[in-house]
Amino acid sequence: MLSVQGLQTEFLTPRGVIRAADGVDFDIQEGEVLGLVGESGCGKSVTALSIMYLIPTPPGRIASGAIWFRGINLLAGSENEATVHRGLGGKPKLVRNDSALRRHRARMAKVRGREVSMIFQEPMSSLNPVLPVGYQIAEVLIYQRRKMICDRLLARKAITDEDLELFKEAVTHPDAAQRERLLTDFCLQSALPVEKVAAIIDRSGLQMEERLARIRRLSERSRTRYAWFLRLARELDVLESEWMTREWRVLSGVASSEDDRRRLAAQAQFRSRQVLFKLVMSIPVLHRILMRPIEEEARRRVLEQLKNVRISEPHKVYNEYPHELSGGMQQRVMIAMALACDPALMIADEPTTSLDVTTQAQILTLVRDLRERIHSSILYITHDLAVIAELCDRVAVMYAGKIVEEAPVGDLFAHPLHPYTEGLLESIVSLDKEVPSDAPLPTIAGTVPDLLSPPSGCRFHPRCKYAFARCKTEEPRLLPQGDGRRVACFLYEEGGSRAAERSPGA
Ligand SMILES: Nc1ncnc2c1ncn2[C@@H]1O[C@H](COP(=O)(O)OP(=O)(O)OP(=O)(O)O)[C@@H](O)[C@H]1O
Ligand code: SF4
Ligand SMILES: [Mg+2]
Repeated sequence: MLSVQGLQTEFLTPRGVIRAADGVDFDIQEGEVLGLVGESGCGKSVTALSIMYLIPTPPGRIASGAIWFRGINLLAGSENEATVHRGLGGKPKLVRNDSALRRHRARMAKVRGREVSMIFQEPMSSLNPVLPVGYQIAEVLIYQRRKMICDRLLARKAITDEDLELFKEAVTHPDAAQRERLLTDFCLQSALPVEKVAAIIDRSGLQMEERLARIRRLSERSRTRYAWFLRLARELDVLESEWMTREWRVLSGVASSEDDRRRLAAQAQFRSRQVLFKLVMSIPVLHRILMRPIEEEARRRVLEQLKNVRISEPHKVYNEYPHELSGGMQQRVMIAMALACDPALMIADEPTTSLDVTTQAQILTLVRDLRERIHSSILYITHDLAVIAELCDRVAVMYAGKIVEEAPVGDLFAHPLHPYTEGLLESIVSLDKEVPSDAPLPTIAGTVPDLLSPPSGCRFHPRCKYAFARCKTEEPRLLPQGDGRRVACFLYEEGGSRAAERSPGA
């Protein structure tokens, strides 16, 4: 579903050009969890941000490569957004084409941005400090997932006897706090607005039968209300996404004549429907009335998602500002935000590093649990191999801007191929053994190279205990080794000393 091919992302700094991703290649299959590991500074976050199209320009730009996602090259159409020119004295300078950049960002947000969500290392970096968190997630749904919200509204079922039993219990419970909790549960379950339900309860002198009748009528009314508008809003969203997707296929060079035909048809239909939509929305009172069910439904979806990430008081958290929440809570909200959009691919960039150990464990349990429940593919970035072992199906190991090894998790741990992977594993394996507490923590000797001037040949050669003459001058390619594994090391190339170990039947 995702195939990153030859991705090169670079930063122009006063010291020179840093190529933080230098020919990165990997694939993620539908429903798969791929771990991306490597020491600090090897380009993991840069790779993730490139997929999301969130590299800050300047100083950064994606220089080349392709990122195929569900039949579209996400980088197609972005080629001329930032080009490098030689300035005075031959110094490279980044020139940005603002209109091209804006167009591409809009395309990304409208089409693929909705299908890929990201959880960042630092939750505060993606939450707006001046808005309540629930509202922020609801906004995303209203503007980016309108089809989903309209579908939910249009598919709403008539109120059931079970719902009404819950209502009765909520009204008659002796404990006030419990009453309130049951009532919010009822409103969520039956998709009715809290204020209206409260108004029915507050009317004095009503018998229970009369209350139930009013609830039934309220439900029926809100179910059939403004269905024409919901269908229009939904259709606009579908048409726009179809138009943009087909257009992007054209840009990606994979369009058929069918794509061309459907693109033009969708574009024309979108334009004609949009006239009515804009007209209706330009009248403030209509705007308010018609958008209200959509806003309420988005709110319900957010509350559901907050519950899903095990936030015990979703209503309270909904109205809180990011700074009022603990780090663990902020990260849960971020996860809820990523999940609310029902993404096909979720990227988690070290979601636990900024948290204390207990909270880290809780968030990991949550991610593990969600992994079972949602069917998205996940790219999980971490430098913790223990986490990878527990969570992932496959692993890609990154070193100095390149993928050096890729393998199914079990195989990688049982039998690492690349000397760098071997080094990484040694440093955790010995943690399990009985080691005297004053023994130094084993790490890979040497330091991560400066990407400004990476070592020649194999970038790992200054730290590699197996390095030989060829490693210093030539760069190993990432080659298949059978069993779904790939490695970039001369030891495994034809004639390499370890190649025989990997050949079939050996
Ligand atoms: N905005 C930027 N400007 C200049 N250089 C940058 C920028 N962002 C990243 N880099 C460079 O890209 C390289 C890779 O950074 P990246 O953040 O991807 O590392 P990482 O693997 O995610 O590390 P960590 O595990 O510490 O998060 C770094 O060497 C850094 O210097
Ligand atoms: S190519 Fe050479 S230096 Fe690089 S990892 Fe393999 S043996 Fe070590
Ligand atoms: Mg990072």
